[in-house]
Amino acid sequence: MPQSTDTPDLFTPLRLGAIELPNRVIMAPMTRSRAGAGNCPTELTADYYAQRASAGLIITEATQVCDTAQGYPNTPGIHTDAQTHAWRAVAEAVHTAGGRIVTQLWHVGRISHPLFQPNGAAPLAPSAIAAKGQLYTGAGMEPFPMPRALETDEIPALVRHFADAAKRAVFDAGLDGVEIHAANGYLIDQFLRDRTNIRSDRYGGSVENRCRFLLEILEATAHAVGADRIGVRLSPTGVFNDMGDSDPLPHFLSITQALNPFSLAYLHVIEGRPGHHMAPPEGAPHVAAALRAAFKGPFILNGGYSRTDADATLAKGEADAVSFGEPFISNPDLPLRFRTDAPLAEADRNSYYGGTAKGYTDYPALESVAA
Ligand code: PHB
Repeated sequence: MPQSTDTPDLFTPLRLGAIELPNRVIMAPMTRSRAGAGNCPTELTADYYAQRASAGLIITEATQVCDTAQGYPNTPGIHTDAQTHAWRAVAEAVHTAGGRIVTQLWHVGRISHPLFQPNGAAPLAPSAIAAKGQLYTGAGMEPFPMPRALETDEIPALVRHFADAAKRAVFDAGLDGVEIHAANGYLIDQFLRDRTNIRSDRYGGSVENRCRFLLEILEATAHAVGADRIGVRLSPTGVFNDMGDSDPLPHFLSITQALNPFSLAYLHVIEGRPGHHMAPPEGAPHVAAALRAAFKGPFILNGGYSRTDADATLAKGEADAVSFGEPFISNPDLPLRFRTDAPLAEADRNSYYGGTAKGYTDYPALESVAA
């Protein structure tokens, strides 16, 4: 697709690797905790995403790559045949509705509980450092448990799980690609940042070592499905899930530079706008602009953007696209509403996680719009 040389706006088409987007209003990944038996997406999941097919790209909720990857109730996986089959129905529904959809692949690492682990084992992590705080198990809140530090020789199997999940996603389920979730304090991010990675093997210590797990995952997934169907998500300054890093700007610049040789479909960075729950804490550096300059590929920003913020961000060249989370929950036709300056519906927070069609597939699209 020829890219316009004019200043882009949210409605300028964009190519992300192998995926052609008709607009730059991307649906951000959001956990909705409505998977069915066996952590399979359901017909409701297919309806939900199909209703949002006018997004330039849908990035699904985070999806487990293996049976140690889960940390919340009713989040979907893509490591069993039944899950893969169920994702196929989601992909078909979105494609039939004219959309594009990639699935976000995650392993939660220490953000889990023995209740979610095979045989009630401790969750896995780069280092035995428990997150401060509590997690929701489905039966109430529990303190985060002490995770078990992975042995060096356990890591290749985890890398393979990401590659196998990517293969299932693209070749078996027919999704358009995958986003590797390396953000928000989950397993890959736990390797990247020095607050959670104090390993002394080749996966810890220097930033080169801390990003080895991510790079091995990218090598394996790119080999499996092609780098032009793979995006990566980073949250360099986020503190969600008790995260932190001693020097995020140089560390994440190195990590971003290490991504360049892969020619990925995109890099997706969360650096929340002021007041957003994923905003860098008071006094913390902002690094997104430096990562944008360092990354040689399409760059997506996320974190509480309004339509006006997003327009300004694209006009200034600070990103190629913006992803929107909560607005997509309550406005299935968000691109149309932006294009026509229609009012946005408010999302009901009480129905974000779990439950039924209520607060999931019952937000109406605009029936008609004044010309
Ligand atoms: C969440 O379920 O709260 C959640 C999941 C994935 C994220 C961030 C938050 O990346």
